[in-house]
Amino acid sequence: MRTFHNILVTGGAGFIGSNFIRYVFTKTSFAGRMVNFDKLTYAGNPHSLADIASAYGERYHFVRGDIAESTQVAAALRDHEVDAIIHFAAESHVDRSIHGPGDFIRTNILGTFTLLQAARELWGDRKDVLFHHVSTDEVYGSLGDTGKFLETTAYDPRSPYSASKASSDHLVQAWHHTYGLPITMSNCSNNYGPYHFPEKLIPLMINNLLTGKTLPVYGDGKNVRDWLYVEDHANAIWAIVTKGSIGETYNVGGENEWQNIQLLEVLIETVARLAGRNLADLRNLITYVKDRPGHDRRYAINCHKLKTELGWAPSVTFEQGIEKTVQWYLDNQAWVAQVTSGDYRKWVDANYARR
Ligand SMILES: NC(=O)c1ccc[n+]([C@@H]2O[C@H](COP(=O)([O-])OP(=O)(O)OC[C@H]3O[C@@H](n4cnc5c(N)ncnc54)[C@H](O)[C@@H]3O)[C@@H](O)[C@H]2O)c1
Repeated sequence: MRTFHNILVTGGAGFIGSNFIRYVFTKTSFAGRMVNFDKLTYAGNPHSLADIASAYGERYHFVRGDIAESTQVAAALRDHEVDAIIHFAAESHVDRSIHGPGDFIRTNILGTFTLLQAARELWGDRKDVLFHHVSTDEVYGSLGDTGKFLETTAYDPRSPYSASKASSDHLVQAWHHTYGLPITMSNCSNNYGPYHFPEKLIPLMINNLLTGKTLPVYGDGKNVRDWLYVEDHANAIWAIVTKGSIGETYNVGGENEWQNIQLLEVLIETVARLAGRNLADLRNLITYVKDRPGHDRRYAINCHKLKTELGWAPSVTFEQGIEKTVQWYLDNQAWVAQVTSGDYRKWVDANYARR
């Protein structure tokens, strides 16, 4: 099992990165330091890790920085004697990538290139280090009614977001094959859980249900996604980082496919039960809207390799994960109100200096 002293997590103030940092500190035997390197875009919320910052003191350190700025990246890696990078930072919302692809190209492609170069420059030929790249199943394109994505499935990205992630995946593989950089990669299906910025499907729907707003459903509502509870993504990444074979990609998924409209019914039923709301009133909020351009029809992941080689298995069922998630949003409406308010962004800028 690999061990590290100083791990730099990029994008650790975002949804999956913050859950990953919390998971490693609270549920693994990791004894070193974690540096959270994050630009704090609209999707980055330092409050998501307030509990970790106060509980782990010196072992947790936050740096406000941009992965596309080489001097900032090099300084963070050098100053903290980083021996592993776990790379989550990205522009991650498909709809935003359709309306404004520039930031996706800059952060996801140029940012990954900048990190890879900085890692290479700092580490040279060292083999006791690791660059883990976090990616998505969306790079594989869209499936018909049958079949699942394997690690060997040919890439076929179809949105600016997935194209930028596919590009970053290829760069990471190239830096391994060409320069010998020790890397691992993971391609995961859709995540859900606590601290998810409320523009994405599940938190958006939960919040609209709680506040009585309409529930916008793209097209016929029959697009299929494979859903995974975020803590199970975190423990999969930890398994890959500590035990995975160098140079390998592992698919991560819940083997848990739902049409969007079926998923919405589960959310409606769960919110009605946990928040004491009327089912029929909640169902009346459903509104079909014009489909997303280029909307991929179906994603499904085969994660046999991760299960058999690394012994990974999800810790919760979909029903348990959804229940925990709805309860979290019920208990944390203050977090939602905070991260979506313009004043919060001003507060972040005033309190977290850019390097
Ligand atoms: N959300 C999913 O369902 C899902 C599924 C599979 C893979 N992924 C991948 O996981 C990673 C994390 O996704 P997420 O949902 O947590 O995203 P997110 O949008 O919630 O968080 C992204 C984080 O990256 C930071 N960031 C953005 N640009 C940056 C830059 N230039 N420099 C430094 N930090 C920057 C943001 O401030 C934010 O904290 C992404 O690489 C994404 O492609 C996400």
